[in-house]
Amino acid sequence: MPHADSSFFGPNASKDEVYTQVLEQARGLVYGQRNWVSNFSNVASLLWHAYAALPTPSASVNWAGFYIRSDKFPALSPQNTTTTTTTTTDASAPAKLLLGPFQGRPACQEIRFGKGVCGTAAQDRATVVVPDVLEFPGHIACDASSRSEIVVPILVGGETVAIIDVDCTEPSGFDETDKKYLEELAGLLAECCDW
Ligand code: SME
Repeated sequence: MPHADSSFFGPNASKDEVYTQVLEQARGLVYGQRNWVSNFSNVASLLWHAYAALPTPSASVNWAGFYIRSDKFPALSPQNTTTTTTTTTDASAPAKLLLGPFQGRPACQEIRFGKGVCGTAAQDRATVVVPDVLEFPGHIACDASSRSEIVVPILVGGETVAIIDVDCTEPSGFDETDKKYLEELAGLLAECCDW
């Protein structure tokens, strides 16, 4: 099956059916690939097309993607050297998330653990569902048209390595069904990539 076909969702499918297809197709797309950049890129695309196939409010999702803990990005090699570098972290510095693969409009690139919805979920290692972002103290407004948001941490060995972030232009865009399946997706992504 051509890769693009994995993102065709039936027009009258329920949210449960669409998420089940997302998980099934995600398992297929990540098969044989353990690089998070590649896997997250395809899964961001799957999520984007999945929400578009659902009725509103899901159809009003305007951003779907990932932020990754900064030390999980490949280290930059110093110029003029062929030596391979290893990633180093400053243990005293607070952890931060950097923008990863996504679908939607450009977004802020750096979020410290504990800041905004993403940083809160990353720090608390727990899903945060925000029915109205205007009521969430410290919400980071990358796009003024976003009105609700869900952020799910991707945990490896009990630590946040990345988060799934989905925004919607409607208030109360996300419910327990979104939480359940996105947490399942987070578990899959934790396991299928090398960290
Ligand atoms: N609203 C997020 C920032 C990321 S964007 O929504 C893509 C937050 O408060 O952390």
